[in-house]
Amino acid sequence: MQTDLKQFLECFPQEPHYYANAGHVFYDIMNWIQENRPKSKPNIIMPAYIPAKLYRFILAAGYKPKFYDVSTELDFSVDEIRSLIDDQTQMVFAIHYFGIPVDLDPLKQLTQEQDLFLFEDCAHTLNGSWQGKTLGTTGDFAIFSIRKMLQLHCGGFLMLNKQPWPFQPSRTKKVSNFFTGYHIVGSRIKYSLNRLSRGRNLFQKISIPEIGYIDFNEKQTVTVKRMDRLSQWYLSKSKLSTLIEKRRENVRFLWNHIRDLETFAPIGFDRLSEINNTVRHSNSHSDSEIHNSQPAESSADQKYQLINGYVPFSLPILTLAGTREFIQKELLNCGIMCYIGWSEAPFGMKECRKAEQLQSRLLELPVHHYINQYQLDTMADCLNGMKL
Ligand SMILES: Cc1ncc(COP(=O)(O)O)c(C=O)c1O
Repeated sequence: MQTDLKQFLECFPQEPHYYANAGHVFYDIMNWIQENRPKSKPNIIMPAYIPAKLYRFILAAGYKPKFYDVSTELDFSVDEIRSLIDDQTQMVFAIHYFGIPVDLDPLKQLTQEQDLFLFEDCAHTLNGSWQGKTLGTTGDFAIFSIRKMLQLHCGGFLMLNKQPWPFQPSRTKKVSNFFTGYHIVGSRIKYSLNRLSRGRNLFQKISIPEIGYIDFNEKQTVTVKRMDRLSQWYLSKSKLSTLIEKRRENVRFLWNHIRDLETFAPIGFDRLSEINNTVRHSNSHSDSEIHNSQPAESSADQKYQLINGYVPFSLPILTLAGTREFIQKELLNCGIMCYIGWSEAPFGMKECRKAEQLQSRLLELPVHHYINQYQLDTMADCLNGMKL
């Protein structure tokens, strides 16, 4: 894995284009394609499991989405995607959900055969790879969301791996530095207090986040904005390898503490984990204190490790039907706020049965780099002690 931003960016043929967020890039690319290769009723082949925000941007760009189903392993069927393509299709869109890499080679082949573009959504990962290939280098275009992966209020970028026509971002406005500074300071104070209070939620200031929505009667509009200088400076100063390793450590810790529970399953675990013979040398819960030095003596000493290249955004788990909201509330009562993916998707499309499972059963455990050991212990204890 590359160690810093510069090295990571060297994996791509061009410099990044910075935007206020990744969604704005997507909107810009759709417009750019239509301007240069217009179709009367353009469509885009999309996964059915997406946030309402992306749906709104598709409508704002004048495209029609044609949805393919997404499995509970966050994977897709190439045959289904092939069957959706018609003469108005401009692009196929694929997501590395929550940082779990998906193999895009078959889609790359399909889109090349059909003279379509492949859009690779890396909003949930940064400097990840799959089978040695950096995520974001397979698609013709790739988006990254700095605001998500660095816990900022703003920031995303575009990597153009293919540029059939001259490209100029259509950004008209810029996010204000003041706005970004205010949010950076506020969130950093919150994280520090959380650490000092040993994970206690001092002000009880967290709540279940609102669910995204889309009003199909409304005309959708987007103002494309540029990333502010403060976020760009913050990005250039951030040590990616440290942030990434912390996220990976958090997932590793949770895997090893909740893995055997029968009430839910971490998604992607079988593909992304490998077992190492490791032993704990102290009473601490911290996985940073696990050493690989001695062979394990029993299976209880065996610890799961993450495969190289997996850079998580959150840790998605698949709960048993009808239990997700209860688990979410119990964790909230312990001071841990969990998202539930996008329960607005698949937007009433009954044929997307697998995405419906995700809609009702997926829960995201937070593993970002500001999650501290107290919070990890709390999550593990709460999930282990839960009576469903
Ligand atoms: C899968 C996915 N792609 C893209 C985006 C857009 O990212 P941003 O929030 O930076 O616009 C989001 C955000 O909601 C997302 O979840």
